[in-house]
Amino acid sequence: MYTYVVRVVRAEEWALVKDLRLLALRDPVAPLAFLETYEAAAARPDSFWQERAAGAAEGSAGVRQFVAEAEDGQWAGTVTVLVEEAGTVDWAGFPVERRQAHLVGVYVRDEWRGGGMTRALLDAAVEWSWKSGVERVRLIVHEKNARAQGAYRKAGFIPSGRTVPLGQGAGEAEYEFVLERPEASDR
Ligand SMILES: CC(C)(COP(=O)(O)OP(=O)(O)OC[C@H]1O[C@@H](n2cnc3c(N)ncnc32)[C@H](O)[C@@H]1OP(=O)(O)O)[C@@H](O)C(=O)NCCC(=O)NCCS
Repeated sequence: MYTYVVRVVRAEEWALVKDLRLLALRDPVAPLAFLETYEAAAARPDSFWQERAAGAAEGSAGVRQFVAEAEDGQWAGTVTVLVEEAGTVDWAGFPVERRQAHLVGVYVRDEWRGGGMTRALLDAAVEWSWKSGVERVRLIVHEKNARAQGAYRKAGFIPSGRTVPLGQGAGEAEYEFVLERPEASDR
């Protein structure tokens, strides 16, 4: 197995950002894991991916996309951090009470799973979040996505008790998992 580094994407790497996202959207778990469909993403123009990469690179405000880059240059996994400001309303219509980071788009290629890459990506995202001064880090995971839940628990996330109902699936829900900011002395 190759080694890898976890780093932030660069604006000019938009085609790699697109390729990894399209791969993630073809994963068998994608309907549970992501709100977007492969067809919708594949139909987006290059300008969409260019803006996405530029908006998640170093120097952009409130967003970072991390990737795990293998020795041979392959992008093997990713997570994106979105800072949500207190007083705003999130995408599901809930008020954001405290300044927080929201982790989205978590994906690791099949052949890299089970080897710690997800933890390395989550740790990088969480470290950046604390440096950004947020009070908590959260993510949303489908109730049936047991593997993702296991990975998040290993990284210290716990269910907050908040659930987000899903419009399309009868009675299905997603759970909010959260990591509270440790006291300065614990970090
Ligand atoms: C989610 C994802 C990033 C996790 O990465 P991973 O490398 O597979 O995760 P890990 O193997 O480190 O951790 C998963 C844990 O859940 C456990 N697990 C796996 N399947 C499980 C199941 N059906 N029920 C309960 N636990 C399960 C694993 O055993 C493991 O715990 P362990 O290391 O103590 O044995 C990866 O599987 C992925 O990309 N999935 C497709 C996209 C996706 O679901 N993204 C998340 C969107 S919220």
